[in-house]
Amino acid sequence: MVKRLTAPALSTRKVEHGAAPIVMVTAADYPSARMIGETDADMILVGDSLAMVVLGYSDTLSVTIDVMAHHTAAVARANPKQLIVGDLPWMSYHVSIEDTLRNAAKLVRAGAGAVKLEGGSKRVPKIEALIDAQIPVMGHIGLTPQSVHTMGGFQVQGKNATAAHDLVAEAHALQDAGCFAVVLEGVPREVGDMITRSVDIPTVGIGAGPGCDGQVLVLHDLLGMQDDFVPKFVRQYANLKAESIASISAYVADVRSGAFPDDSESYHIGGDEVEALGLYGG
Ligand code: KIV
Repeated sequence: MVKRLTAPALSTRKVEHGAAPIVMVTAADYPSARMIGETDADMILVGDSLAMVVLGYSDTLSVTIDVMAHHTAAVARANPKQLIVGDLPWMSYHVSIEDTLRNAAKLVRAGAGAVKLEGGSKRVPKIEALIDAQIPVMGHIGLTPQSVHTMGGFQVQGKNATAAHDLVAEAHALQDAGCFAVVLEGVPREVGDMITRSVDIPTVGIGAGPGCDGQVLVLHDLLGMQDDFVPKFVRQYANLKAESIASISAYVADVRSGAFPDDSESYHIGGDEVEALGLYGG
């Protein structure tokens, strides 16, 4: 039985108190979750970014709760030691508390140990209801991709003092509502520092500078699996897209030249039976 990290255990992981930075990475399928499961990452986020990096949509708004549950279940079947956080997609927590609870339950039943949702103080009633239903919640403020239309694009947030102070207030609202951690996305590093110092729950940054209590990256970005758009905050640790294209091209060339498959890659029947086949003129 895997001893999985829990939301309560992560909720006190503040770097200023000597904790190691939290590491979260996204996954959308079984093989990715198996690979991450062999690392020391703390959390796997089944993020709705899978709409873009796996399913090819231009934003995250097209994925439904059933799609997210499908991917969460694939990740959970890998039985990783990380806490699995299921991302509540757009419109799965906007209509009513009942809807929010039923949708979050789909992710928990698929194997998530916590859910994440975007937004600050206006989400408080939903967050309180989720926690009342024993579902740990991770907040997400700053550049919230589900707000792409109201933000006017994927824009860095909190770029002036008023907006920065508003974000600090939103982080406090999430903490007071009971979130065990909060993602800070696409904010200046000074704002990431300010929020991190101001709240007792850990902050997990993506494009929020090095001062957060942890970092999250999308797996496809960090492995260099896509190059349509590489945001400033992404560090690519591999170039799997180039390696994959080279590997697939080598396979194509080997088939065309007759170099693949060879005898060692073929099944055989016994000598007498080969003769009986008369295949080689025997
Ligand atoms: O969906 C996602 O991958 C996310 C991260 C960018 C935090 O929400």
